[in-house]
Amino acid sequence: MADSTELETRARAVLSPVLGHYTWLPIERGEGSWLHIQGGRRVLDLTCGIAVTPVGHAHPRVVAAVRDQVAKLSHICAGVALYEPNIALAERLVEIAPSGLDTVFLGNSGAEAVEGAVKLARQATGRAGIIVFRGGFHGRTTGAATLTTSKSAYRRGYGALLPEVHTAPFPYPLACRIGPEHDAEVCGEHTLAEIDAMLDHEIPPEHVAAFLIEPVLGEGGYVAAPASFLRELRALADRIGALLIFDEVQTGLGRTGTWTAAEKVGVRPDILLLAKALGGGLPLGAIVAPRELHAKWQTSTHGSTFGGNPVSCASGLATLDVIRDEGLVDRANHLGRVIVEELAPLRRESRVREVRAYGAMVGVEFDEAASAKAAIAGALAADVLLITCGAHDQVVRFIPALNVPEDDLRAGARTFIRAAQGAVVPASA
Ligand SMILES: Cc1ncc(COP(=O)(O)O)c(C=O)c1O
Repeated sequence: MADSTELETRARAVLSPVLGHYTWLPIERGEGSWLHIQGGRRVLDLTCGIAVTPVGHAHPRVVAAVRDQVAKLSHICAGVALYEPNIALAERLVEIAPSGLDTVFLGNSGAEAVEGAVKLARQATGRAGIIVFRGGFHGRTTGAATLTTSKSAYRRGYGALLPEVHTAPFPYPLACRIGPEHDAEVCGEHTLAEIDAMLDHEIPPEHVAAFLIEPVLGEGGYVAAPASFLRELRALADRIGALLIFDEVQTGLGRTGTWTAAEKVGVRPDILLLAKALGGGLPLGAIVAPRELHAKWQTSTHGSTFGGNPVSCASGLATLDVIRDEGLVDRANHLGRVIVEELAPLRRESRVREVRAYGAMVGVEFDEAASAKAAIAGALAADVLLITCGAHDQVVRFIPALNVPEDDLRAGARTFIRAAQGAVVPASA
């Protein structure tokens, strides 16, 4: 193993070992798509801190907005008094969200948005049942962990979690029990048949408050549900009087080549959840839904001290401005194509099962975790930071900043190929 740094030694002594670490890189600062590591090394960040920094690190417009706001007002609580960035961000989200989703609750994180959405769905429908999809990741709080099925380890040892949560399969051909030799549409039909069976055998339709789905599995492996499946799910929710919640915490705000995945597939959810990229690097989450639905959420039965904090909102607004002004939503599609083009040689590798892209979310599925982990270790040894996802960490995901210079991205992808082919031997090997 590479020598540990002084920062790592201190971290291991004082921080809880519960947090899993992809790396122990001691970072001094970030600039654009580059991380400057103590000691002078520079690493290309193709993780965006797990899909959080869409305009890179320390973008001058975001830094200026944060400085300006923190000097004016860093906190008052949205329930105590009004402030401009909070309202302006909500107004901007309404412009970005599918039509009709015109009312916003701001929180601090993805998990908090998910938990709030479940409370909203249950209270508004008077029903308790939530149907989630296998492989989905919705967060680490107790409720969100109950809804999360990307890895069973996320529930280990936690005893009884939320009641009335039911898990349907997700249309993921490579993980499907009917075998991998079919396309996503067929998998979608199979999944819908499974949901019908659930409604016959496990949960009466009139008990279902909501379907909660990531249109593209994030932590679960970078797998997109086909548009046809999501349209059918929308129709099913309407038929049984349930709500459709899209968890777009990882997909939202340009990453998919549209402002939301909902826009890309042409399906309007009842509730849209955003976080991660929303704060441009600061903590922020949002529950976006039609006013008539929010109106059924009884006043004061939900709230948050820090939710929609002025500095996070200013950072989020500046980030959305940069995404809009620099045309980064369209660029996400281009970046995905660039990565797929560069990774073409990997398709010949027997250990690579699939390379798939959805806007600027690209997943490379390997035969097993060891192959994926060796590839990211090799890439890191050559100064390219990537992380895995998938139930077994068998998928490497590319999550570049949407303004990453194309040459850097191409060079990073080529480095990854050499690492995946075993041409770069990590120091820890
Ligand atoms: C789709 C999705 N939902 C919810 C969450 C939880 O977000 P947070 O970590 O901000 O609580 C995540 C985090 O990875 C996510 O990817």
